Amino acid sequence: MKKNFLKFNNSFKNKSFVSINQFSSKREVEIIFKTADKMKNLVKNRAVNGLLKGYCVAELFYQPSTRTFTSFLGAANWLGALAIPIHGMSAYSSAVKGESLADSIRSIYQTSAADLIILRHPDDDSSEIAAKNSYVPVINAGSGKKEHPTQAILDLYTINQKLKKTDNLTVAMVGDLKNGRTIKSLALILSLVDKKNKFIFVSPDTLRAPMSLINKLKSAKVEVYETDDLNEIMPKVDVLYVTRIQKEWFAKEEEYNAVCGSFIIDHKIMRKAKKKMIVMHPLPRVNEISTEVDSDPRAAYFRQMRSGLYTRMALLKLILLGNK
Ligand code: CP
Repeated sequence: MKKNFLKFNNSFKNKSFVSINQFSSKREVEIIFKTADKMKNLVKNRAVNGLLKGYCVAELFYQPSTRTFTSFLGAANWLGALAIPIHGMSAYSSAVKGESLADSIRSIYQTSAADLIILRHPDDDSSEIAAKNSYVPVINAGSGKKEHPTQAILDLYTINQKLKKTDNLTVAMVGDLKNGRTIKSLALILSLVDKKNKFIFVSPDTLRAPMSLINKLKSAKVEVYETDDLNEIMPKVDVLYVTRIQKEWFAKEEEYNAVCGSFIIDHKIMRKAKKKMIVMHPLPRVNEISTEVDSDPRAAYFRQMRSGLYTRMALLKLILLGNK
């Protein structure tokens, strides 16, 4: 059994993708972007491609998902792979009977002959456990409150498409920075591609980003500023990355109600923003971006989802077939 969640070192072939910490250089991001651009053309030209014909990809989701699940499924199908999409693992798999994640991962490989397993799971270390126990590469499609590395790749790809750069940016991350996994992965990849990218973390006091993340960014000499004043920071921001207050992680309804609606992006707040900036959100949203903002040309959160299809096609191709 392979311990296959190693540093990428410019090659993704046969490696699990568990964490942004596997990246060492911007070059690795550029390899994914270049491949994603090709995938974008393929989809635009409706050129169904048999690149992964004969390969089998299994998706195991233990938590709800709309975007990640369907974009990986779409990605596998566009590339001609056989896809085995399994939603509802928590409710309907033998996890209910007490089967360990390690045994489930080994079982799915045996029962489906999958060449790659895509996993979403509520435990922080689920993808590491899966990758350690898997015969085939594992892609982390969201692990607990810890990481969502493929979301970070699609987010960065969106930033590059919209702003034509990924460096020297002021990025405000807003909302539930404690429980949200997307901001953690995105902050790590943005700090890898350019140490001059600056972060402004905007959250209620109880939902601040973990000190482990802040310390990691600061020790890499990346500028980090924390505030709860959205009005003050809006004029400086190139990327406003809004996140949902994640009700599912709160022990008590009253605690959620106390912070829900802390930050709402609407026309009024957008009037303080630069003309050339973008508003992003990993989605789903509840009320943190008013629907009136949807028609603002700076709203990038719907286009952002399509980046998920292209970048996930790229990742499937790079992991299963390599860079060539
Ligand atoms: N962004 C994201 O992870 O969305 P889903 O939960 O719908 O996959």
